[in-house]
Amino acid sequence: MKIHETAFIVSTYRSYHEDISKDIYAKLWNNTKTELLIPSILKSISKDEAILHSLRNRFFYERINSFFTKNNGGTLINFGAGFSMYQFIIDDTVSTIEIDKREIIDYKKNKIDLWVDQNKLPYRETLYTAIDFNQKTEKEIIEMLYPLIKKKPTFILLEGVLFFLDQQTTNKLFRVFNKLQNQGDLVGVVSYLPEIEKTEVYQRLLNYFDTHNSTNDSFNHQTIATSYYKKIKGYRLQEHIDEFQLSKIYTPQNSFIDKTQLLNENMYILENYKV
Ligand SMILES: C[S@@+](CC[C@H](N)C(=O)[O-])C[C@H]1O[C@@H](n2cnc3c(N)ncnc32)[C@H](O)[C@@H]1O
Repeated sequence: MKIHETAFIVSTYRSYHEDISKDIYAKLWNNTKTELLIPSILKSISKDEAILHSLRNRFFYERINSFFTKNNGGTLINFGAGFSMYQFIIDDTVSTIEIDKREIIDYKKNKIDLWVDQNKLPYRETLYTAIDFNQKTEKEIIEMLYPLIKKKPTFILLEGVLFFLDQQTTNKLFRVFNKLQNQGDLVGVVSYLPEIEKTEVYQRLLNYFDTHNSTNDSFNHQTIATSYYKKIKGYRLQEHIDEFQLSKIYTPQNSFIDKTQLLNENMYILENYKV
């Protein structure tokens, strides 16, 4: 499996539960190759993956939407954006900067431009930037992004990415965020807790990646303790919730019983402060 295929998979998950994810445009990315892969993933890893990813999307949609409503617009900066479509379901005063690897960014820009021309999508001011977080230095990333931020405040999203990065790159990204943001700006981020490594469902996930990984697309399997987010320079932890808890809010009739059976991810909202 290539990393970019994971972006197709999570986007397809969101399209299967539009009522939960609220992402009415995710289905534009659906394709046969991905739809053929999904049944075997749900069977060999966990049947709940599509709902869990839709809950995650719903959480960030709610937080992004309320931040920009409160502030009358600003810029959404989406690191590892994949096929996220938040900008099309939030207010049109918000500008978006999408960052991902070159292959995703080029493909996404072409498709979005086409769909806007065809009136399948509303127009939104969006800039696309190709950056590999492992390869560019802190200074290079800041120099690329800083001039692009025209509207403040900013909400930085790092969703579904940290699993693939190592700790050094993660630390670098948070230093970049602190340089790009001002007091009161937010970061939304998601990761697994280290405890999950002991669960069978997580071992099935690793096993799936190991057996389906292509040789030249290597990545890490990072988990992060909540204490990490309490110590990031320039940020205070504003909110922490996991998908297990989100299911009680957004799908109370079908909420989960046992979180150790789930690939339960943890969502964090961090607020920037300047000393
Ligand atoms: C599982 S997808 C998540 C996409 C999107 N954020 C979402 O939640 O739907 C992971 C994304 O992270 C991107 N990514 C992973 N490693 C990266 C790196 N080193 N540099 C830039 N992007 C990376 C992938 O290309 C992919 O689009």
